Parts: sequence; structure tokens; C-alpha cells
Amino acid sequence: MSNFIEERVLSVHHWTESLFSFRTTRDPSFRFRSGQFTMIGIPVNGKPLLRAYSVASAHYEEELEFFSIKVQDGPLTSRLQHLKEGDAIMVSRKPTGTLVLDNLAPGKHLYLLGTGTGLAPFLSLIKDPETYERFEKVIIVHGVRFKKDLAYSEIISEVLPNDEFVGEMIRDQLIYYPTVTREEFRNHGRITEAMTSGKLFSDVGLPAMNRDDDRFMLCGSPAMLADVRALLDAKGWIEGNHGEPGDFVIEKAFVDK
Ligand code: A2P
Repeated sequence: MSNFIEERVLSVHHWTESLFSFRTTRDPSFRFRSGQFTMIGIPVNGKPLLRAYSVASAHYEEELEFFSIKVQDGPLTSRLQHLKEGDAIMVSRKPTGTLVLDNLAPGKHLYLLGTGTGLAPFLSLIKDPETYERFEKVIIVHGVRFKKDLAYSEIISEVLPNDEFVGEMIRDQLIYYPTVTREEFRNHGRITEAMTSGKLFSDVGLPAMNRDDDRFMLCGSPAMLADVRALLDAKGWIEGNHGEPGDFVIEKAFVDK
């Protein structure tokens, strides 16, 4: 059996000139855990051109969804951005990744910190009832440069709270905290600044950061990942891994070209 499944594009949504998402068919044999990524791609000059993409759809959805940047001279995304309904796309049968609930020790508050397309794995996690069984509050933080980059904001704040399956948990337990760095917005500044100043925690109405109750998942720009990791390391928080649950987990599971 091939390691890849050929799926078909069902729809494409262009958020901005540099961000788009698309949905594909899902072979019923394709299984993944919320927060994982898989390799996806297309054949180029007879060879598969593949990159890691977090799955943005929930594990129980019949379709797969991916969220991507568009880079005009990027080897894969310069091509993927032209995907149309009906096009074929290769999806690896072997999803993997560290941003899974089992890699975190029990806690009360789960902070999902994403910049740019690093939001993708969290879109899957916030639709998983297990996330709300394990944590009392789930805070999805999306850091972007401009307001227009806040993709999925209406889905998170308007659509999901009315979802038949997870709507009630989302209404009661999910907090959405978008933050913008390069123009005026109700939450202005980098995620790291909001953490060190304590503004993030007071804005969402939760206690100051503490290791007994808080767990973090991080996905996004390598600079953000490095800075938040340094901040958590300095406090003595432990990074979780397969088999060894910790206080936080980190991943850069998306393409940047
Ligand atoms: P900034 O505008 O101050 O660079 P990018 O589009 O470059 O991936 O960035 C997405 C968001 O991540 C931007 O708001 C950017 O802020 C922010 N960011 C970049 N580097 C860091 C960092 N080291 N710590 C926190 N946020 C960062």
C-alpha cells in the first residue's frame, strides 16, 4: 500500500493575498489525532514535492482542511495557491506531531499560542470534545501583523459557538484572544509581551501564569517559539514529549515557503 493517499480538493478559500485554506476529501482510513500534522503535496516534474501541514479540521470531520501561506517563489506554496476544486493532492498516511493532549500533564487552563498559520493545529484541537474534558478553560491566542491576517476569527467567535456537536463546550470554555502587532487593535502587541506583562492573563480573566494550573501549546514563527520557550525554561517549566507529558509542547508544523 502506498504511503500516500490521493485526495481531491473540494474548496479553496483565499483569506488575503498571502493566506489561504483548502478542504479536501478524506479517505476513511486516514486517522489522525487533533493537533497533528502530515506531509502533503503534489507531483512536480514527476517527483512528489511535499511539506508538513497541520490538519486544521477535527478528527471526526469527513473532510480535511489545511491552512497555508502563499509565497510567490516558494517551491510548494507558489503552486498550491492555484489549487482548484477537483485537483488532486497527495496526503501522507502517517500523521505525527507533538501538539497532542497526551503530551501535556493535567492542568486547568490550556493556552494555545499560534502566530500566522501556526493557528492551524489549534483549529483542530478546539473542535475536539476531549480538549474540554481535560481542561476547564481553553484560550486560543492568535498573533498576527495586521487585522486582515486574523483568519478564522469569525469561525472561532461566531460559527463554532453555534456548532451542534461542540457549540456548548465552546461557549462555556473557549476564550479567543487575537492580537495584532502592526496596527491598532483592541489587543495590540506580541504574544510574548502579553505574557511577560501579564496582560494576556488579566485580559482573559484568569490568574497570573502558574505552573500548577496552566499548560501551553505553541506553534508559529521560529522566533516566537524560541522566545516563549526561553521564557518558560527560565521559570523551570518542562517541555512535554511523546511518552513524557510536560507543561508545554512546541511545533513549527507548517511551511514558510
Ligand atoms: P511583529 O509584527 O512584531 O514581527 P510573521 O508574519 O512574521 O510570521 O509574524 C506573525 C506574528 O508573530 C506577528 O505579529 C509578529 O510580530 C509575531 N512575532 C514575530 N516574532 C515574534 C517573537 N519573537 N515573539 C512573539 N511574537 C513574534
